[in-house]
Amino acid sequence: MMAHPGQPTGSSPSGGGVGGRGPMGGRGPMGGPMGMGMMRGEKAADFRGSMGKLFNYMGRYKISVSIVFVFAILSTIATIVGPKILGQATTKLFEGIIDKIRGTGDVDFAAIGQILIMTILLYVISSAFGYIQGWIMANVATNITYRFRKDIEHKINKLPLKYFDGTTHGEVLSRITNDVDTINQSLSQSLTQIISSVVTIVGVLIMMLTISWQMTIVALVTLPLSMIVMGIIIGRSQKYFKQQQDYLGHVNSHVEEMYGGHVVMRAFNGEKKSIEKFDTYNNVLYNASWKSNFLSGLMMPLMMVIGNIGYVGVAILGGYLAGTSVISIGDIQAFIQYVRSFTQPISQIANISNVLQQTAAAAERVFKFLAEPEEVADTASPTRLEALDGRVEFQNVRFGYSPDKIVIKNFSAIAQPGQKVAIVGPTGAGKTTIVKLLMRFYELNEGKILVDGHDIHDFTRHDLRMIYGMVLQDTWLFNGTIMENIRYGRPGASDDEVIEAAKAAHVDNFVHTLPDGYNMVLNEEASNLSQGQMQLLTIARAILANPRILILDEATSSVDTRTELLIQKAMDTIMQNRTSFVIAHRLSTIRNADLILVMKDGDIVEQGNHKDLLVRGGFYAELYNSQFENTQQVVMQDRNLANEKN
Ligand SMILES: Nc1ncnc2c1ncn2[C@@H]1O[C@H](COP(=O)(O)OP(=O)(O)OP(=O)(O)O)[C@@H](O)[C@H]1O
Ligand SMILES: [Mg+2]
Repeated sequence: MMAHPGQPTGSSPSGGGVGGRGPMGGRGPMGGPMGMGMMRGEKAADFRGSMGKLFNYMGRYKISVSIVFVFAILSTIATIVGPKILGQATTKLFEGIIDKIRGTGDVDFAAIGQILIMTILLYVISSAFGYIQGWIMANVATNITYRFRKDIEHKINKLPLKYFDGTTHGEVLSRITNDVDTINQSLSQSLTQIISSVVTIVGVLIMMLTISWQMTIVALVTLPLSMIVMGIIIGRSQKYFKQQQDYLGHVNSHVEEMYGGHVVMRAFNGEKKSIEKFDTYNNVLYNASWKSNFLSGLMMPLMMVIGNIGYVGVAILGGYLAGTSVISIGDIQAFIQYVRSFTQPISQIANISNVLQQTAAAAERVFKFLAEPEEVADTASPTRLEALDGRVEFQNVRFGYSPDKIVIKNFSAIAQPGQKVAIVGPTGAGKTTIVKLLMRFYELNEGKILVDGHDIHDFTRHDLRMIYGMVLQDTWLFNGTIMENIRYGRPGASDDEVIEAAKAAHVDNFVHTLPDGYNMVLNEEASNLSQGQMQLLTIARAILANPRILILDEATSSVDTRTELLIQKAMDTIMQNRTSFVIAHRLSTIRNADLILVMKDGDIVEQGNHKDLLVRGGFYAELYNSQFENTQQVVMQDRNLANEKN
């Protein structure tokens, strides 16, 4: 709820009667406890530009925001006038009692009652305005936040994969969580707080001056003093707040990293080192938190002392002025209330400028993200093929993840419909890269890829990816049941179809051994399955998709040879009449391929079928023989060992 900034309740001993629960007393956008005016020191490169963009982004909510502004001003004015009117009641009461003592009259309770009713009415109006304003603003802020999140999510899906190669997940995540949160908080709280603070300061000053300019001067004398004290404390503690933020981040990421890599960490006896590192971070964090909290804790008492000195001055001068009948007694009461409600908005504004800087910085990052170059748009008149033969042709493809480092130099090959094409070659040769290009995950530097004679650019990405079914090197499973994970290949598939695909991929066998069968929920990293089981699941998914072109990147590298053979058989059935690309390190599995492309350093060095390539005695023959020899050697060694034992 929006509190009523500047409400001079006079009940707080701290010299600040404002009940505002703004970002000051609350938590910073990072979730850490923040002191007054001590937010993270980050600045937008272009403050006005970013704020302008944010304002433009508000779109149709601009009118609502204007209404909010008006209501905030009205609400604040109503609270400012309050003490002055309440003071009149005190004056009336005082005069009445004096008259009674003198015997010249009596207390005019009717008039006092009227004044009190007026005051109540004023405060009610102020609260109502404050409430309406807070309600509208909360609405606007939530709507804008919603739009931001939606836009960011859409953007993520439109960004080329290249973007994610160069950006950490944390960064992208931080746009959608921290930055949007900061903007939300700022919109829902700070914006109206600025208005009420400014209006309060100006309004209170005017009211004070109308009561007595001498008293106003006395009250204001302490102001520079408190500002200096505030400046000194903020200056000192800023460093520690920054350090606190930084080390909180270090501690968090260290814990995350160690927890994520728990098994590896233990395997390498990294516990002690990890704990030491954690302790170092934690100690710095402890120190920084302690100091920053101590310093910001000093702020309030110091301000209070200074405020109270001014307060005493005002009381003495007020008493004197009332004694000489320059002002009425009710005015002293009102004035004291004003003094009390004066310091808070000032420190609030000091804090808000920080919040605004943060907001601008967050908005800047979000807008920068939203302005990142997107994937090349799909063609306006895409090719739609009813029936697909599945002929794939690479024409002089040249590609590099970055322009200065070309990975694929000049790749040309043709896969005829229904052919099984194997891509082999040493690690890092560019096999997976070829697959990614086929899916149009990246744009080519030169050359063309044709499917049934059509450039892959002539298809929409959606249609293009519908053509393929793929099993990638790094298996990707999501948090959901096994059934759901397989069904991801073809969302409309019935349970029976899913199970059929699962049988073909030999998933069915092990699923029956699991506690919940197909309804077993995979956890986030699917660590409750074995590596091979995960691979089988992704194979089942690709089978279910029933694509024209099948791509298997090291699909069976983690399953035992017997299962591999079984899958191979299943695959061979599925691959009939389908063009397929198979990437394998174990060359024994691709002997029956129609075409083997041998890659080395991004180029095809040889191509042909297994027999021809062996006869040629080139790079492939070398690769094959080395694998074959190794197996032979192992077999021989095993035999020797067995003989020795006997
Ligand atoms: N996202 C990427 N950004 C930049 N460079 C990359 C990226 N992915 C791969 N590379 C580089 O491209 C080259 C080819 O990688 P690729 O993944 O195609 O190899 P591969 O033949 O599939 O190897 P493996 O047999 O180990 O799977 C490597 O030098 C690699 O470092
Ligand atoms: Mg690879």
